[in-house]
Amino acid sequence: MKKDKILVIGACGQIGVELTLALRKMYGDNNVVASDLREEHELLRGSGPYVSLDVMNKEMLHVLVIRHNITQVYLLAAILSATGEKNPLLAWHINMQSLLNVLDIAKEEGLDKVYWPSSIAVFGPDSPKEATPQHTVIEPTTIYGISKFAGERWCEYYNHRYGVDVRSLRYPGLISYKSAPGGGTTDYAVEIYHEALEEGTYKCFLSESTYLPMMYMPDAIRATIELMEADSARISVRSSYNLSGMSFSPKEIAGAIQQRLPDFTISYEPDYRQQIAEGWPKSIDDSLAAKDWGWKPEFDLEKMTDDMLKNLKVQKNMQ
Ligand SMILES: NC(=O)c1ccc[n+]([C@@H]2O[C@H](COP(=O)([O-])OP(=O)(O)OC[C@H]3O[C@@H](n4cnc5c(N)ncnc54)[C@H](O)[C@@H]3O)[C@@H](O)[C@H]2O)c1
Repeated sequence: MKKDKILVIGACGQIGVELTLALRKMYGDNNVVASDLREEHELLRGSGPYVSLDVMNKEMLHVLVIRHNITQVYLLAAILSATGEKNPLLAWHINMQSLLNVLDIAKEEGLDKVYWPSSIAVFGPDSPKEATPQHTVIEPTTIYGISKFAGERWCEYYNHRYGVDVRSLRYPGLISYKSAPGGGTTDYAVEIYHEALEEGTYKCFLSESTYLPMMYMPDAIRATIELMEADSARISVRSSYNLSGMSFSPKEIAGAIQQRLPDFTISYEPDYRQQIAEGWPKSIDDSLAAKDWGWKPEFDLEKMTDDMLKNLKVQKNMQ
């Protein structure tokens, strides 16, 4: 077991629950402190220490870091893309201030490592759509994307200026069955599996041919841990790495479900999220992550669909 003591902020969210459980397996249950504004998630209960924390309260955060002898922080609390468009100033405030609080405490306390996720939302309508490169036009048009891009610059700044070992990934849309998604534009790719099993039909809020970069949660958790475990000398990007898993449209994911559930039907009623999706890449070039720390995704649409349906059936007592 390693001696590190980890704080996960936003541990009850879509990524936080699974990441906390994975970190507890690696580092020991008591060495991973989960925290969130919300009540403790049922999947975390009994698996290790939990504290209620508002990351916006820098003093409380600082006390927590000192009291628990924290050496690494994973900051997952954020307002996501679709929710952010409803309240842009709040999204900016929370997404920026939470990161600045963590980076500054990391600097002051000399923390070993910080993890903070960015997103494909940093890219905008003028970025290349296919195999979007690591370094390219970055002109986000959503407040979420603007806050993630600014956050990337802050991460690089704290690394270059103060030596904070901060690492980051530009996650694509994440698909999982354990914890619910938190208000993103790619949430449809989770909802569709639930509705396919429960209702046999799904009304999609994106149009049928909207391609977006996506990733199955086990790949996202593995990427996060592999990045954080990599030798610091191999991390050439201190803003945020492009990361790719798969790319598909609503029509294609519906087709994959229909192969397994032939009666499933889908209809399309695009809403305000269509415009957000249209500003984003269709696929991502993550060759730098592959080169620097050996990233390789495992799940494609077929493998993910098999796994999602199998696990959701168990979860819904449908077997
Ligand atoms: N899920 C995705 O598809 C996706 C894609 C790209 C990037 N990301 C990024 O990954 C991170 C985690 O995303 P997620 O999908 O798990 O989000 P989520 O919304 O599911 O979870 C975020 C968690 O943070 C908590 N939180 C919010 N404000 C807080 C505060 N002030 N103090 C403490 N906790 C607070 C929430 O209660 C929630 O449990 C975010 O930075 C997000 O931008 C997610």
